[in-house]
Amino acid sequence: MLDAQFWWYLTRASAVIAWSLMVISVFWGILLATRILKPRDNPSWLLDLHRWLSGLSIVFVGLHMFSLYMDSYAHFSISDLFIPFHSQYTKVASLGAWPVAIGVICTYILLAVQGTSLMMRRLPRKYWKAIHYSSYLLVLVISFHAGWSGTDVSSFAYRAIAILLIGLTTVALILRILFPKPARTLAAQVEGRRPNQNVENLVSLVVSEIAYPATGIKQINFENPTGAPLKEWLPGSHITLHLPNGLKRQYSLCGDLRDKDSYTISVLQAPQSRGGSEWIHQELKQGMTVEVSGPHNHFEIEPAKDYLFIAGGIGITPIKAMIESLPTKKAWSLVYAGRSRSSMAYASELEGMYQDRVTIHSDEEAGHRINLDEILKDFDGDVYTCGPEPLLAALMERVPAGRLHFERFNAVERSSSVTLDEFTVVLKRSGKKFQVTKDESLLNAINQNGGSLISSCGEGVCGTCEVRFLGGSPQHLDSVMSDEDKDEIGVMYPCVSRSNSDELILDI
Ligand code: FES
Repeated sequence: MLDAQFWWYLTRASAVIAWSLMVISVFWGILLATRILKPRDNPSWLLDLHRWLSGLSIVFVGLHMFSLYMDSYAHFSISDLFIPFHSQYTKVASLGAWPVAIGVICTYILLAVQGTSLMMRRLPRKYWKAIHYSSYLLVLVISFHAGWSGTDVSSFAYRAIAILLIGLTTVALILRILFPKPARTLAAQVEGRRPNQNVENLVSLVVSEIAYPATGIKQINFENPTGAPLKEWLPGSHITLHLPNGLKRQYSLCGDLRDKDSYTISVLQAPQSRGGSEWIHQELKQGMTVEVSGPHNHFEIEPAKDYLFIAGGIGITPIKAMIESLPTKKAWSLVYAGRSRSSMAYASELEGMYQDRVTIHSDEEAGHRINLDEILKDFDGDVYTCGPEPLLAALMERVPAGRLHFERFNAVERSSSVTLDEFTVVLKRSGKKFQVTKDESLLNAINQNGGSLISSCGEGVCGTCEVRFLGGSPQHLDSVMSDEDKDEIGVMYPCVSRSNSDELILDI
């Protein structure tokens, strides 16, 4: 038979462990929300650890309550443990039932945070967020419960742990205040320029290696001839090649993320090439120098509990980098579709490395296209896709916008289905105000009024002209990313996009 002292020790130990786990979980959650360690962190790993820590804290809170109930000396009834202010236990007479009541209320907050996280997919995001934010209050308030009702307050070890936990909580909250936005950086910020600065940071890179991973696909490795390390990049990033024939073309990086000395891209020789892929396939040779800008990223991988990657043809390039960035135990699968195996770059390599997580679908071998309904059946995680427009359109019909993340090769014509109206633009930094007529491009109007935005494709697909909007409602007509994502991070692409509101305020 276990004596009261055992249960009392267990009560104290489980309380300290639960408190520590809560604080570390919140700290981890803040690293995840702010991504301040980017690009050295990994969102999937951060999310998994955050969830695991908060789940474990509930286990220890349960143990704390169970040991209190079992302790014949403390005399805690079931009602004392679950009903706030029912227990009259107190160490500080003037506070009455408050210290224990705070502990009971914090338990409910913890359960609400964890429960709503498990149901995150089924809840409106704003409700989930509001409840999740209460965890900040939880880690602050729980320290009062610990200080006012704990029996170890006078011990040195307990005080040291308490000071450490309160300090960590304070640092976490300061970080959250200082970095309120998810660290999705603007194209301009990645390049180290101001949004209205007409300078593209070009670097001359030399072609160090060329390979052909599939029929019609040329893989090119670039290195910096000075030997200086290249800019770090995240999965989904692309670089822009400034070709000697005057064209600018964007290609996803698909090499090793850890390799600081080279960039790898793979280029399909497009049947209807407008000069970019044609030049690369015919003219680009080992040892040649090419001007490169970027990397930029409009296709970041976000934390999710499960990933389904669907790649069509050369769309495998950003997807390959994403897969290779995920922790080994993360749940994911890839469906990689193409006309024929011989035209599908990296198919055998991915199959060999990841085996049953990878499904290769060759239309030629199967005699039909992939069956998306079958693939998506019962899947409620996040879908990441890159491929030809019909594949993207089919996925948009089947996957809710909040769970679908995509990157396009080509611009989609969106302006023919909307009314283009005149509107007023305010450039917040310079204080300029001007009208944009029905037939005028917003990008041109900005540049004629001193904005000096740089651009590349002019079709709303590369993301180079990205600008942050501060007020008004943009009429998104680009193909860079989903409209929901743009609204969430507050950006627009003025080479094609306009305004739904009479006035649009831009961060220029
Ligand atoms: S210039 Fe390419 S999106 Fe605007």
